[in-house]
Amino acid sequence: MHIDKFERYWIVAASLMLGAFFAALIASTIVFGVHLPDPAGRINPADVEDWTNQGFATPGLRDMGDNHYEAHIVAQMWLYNTGDVVDGVPTVRVPQGAVVTFNVASKDVTHGFYIEYHNVNIMVIPGQISRATVTFNRPGTYRIVCHEYCGNGHHNMNAQVIVEPSA
Ligand code: CUA
Repeated sequence: MHIDKFERYWIVAASLMLGAFFAALIASTIVFGVHLPDPAGRINPADVEDWTNQGFATPGLRDMGDNHYEAHIVAQMWLYNTGDVVDGVPTVRVPQGAVVTFNVASKDVTHGFYIEYHNVNIMVIPGQISRATVTFNRPGTYRIVCHEYCGNGHHNMNAQVIVEPSA
């Protein structure tokens, strides 16, 4: 079978690139330990509904001392239960500088959990506990939105973080 000279070059070049990518993939997993994020925990969506499991029994903010907080939030069609409501919006209220670990669990379908202007952008998959830790340095109100389409009321699924200025 005749293969054109240039086509042969491209076959060699493409094979070398594939080999390099494969080697990079193997090196990143074995040498650098890169892997897909594990869920922070498992939770039966039915137990979330009963709120009898793993801190989700009483959604809300817990003060762990030293300006560290632990938040448990239940996501469901189509709201977040944060344990606090301000002006009709589910709210997490923290002082400036607070380091907050969010634990989010869904009791029905897959939801999202995104906090604007902060490095929190996680999927909330039923059966798993999603966790993210973030520091709130600037006072203000930051929206939390669901960014995974979860049905008719998806666009209404939101909450907020209020960061109160330190005195
Ligand atoms: Cu919940 Cu979209």
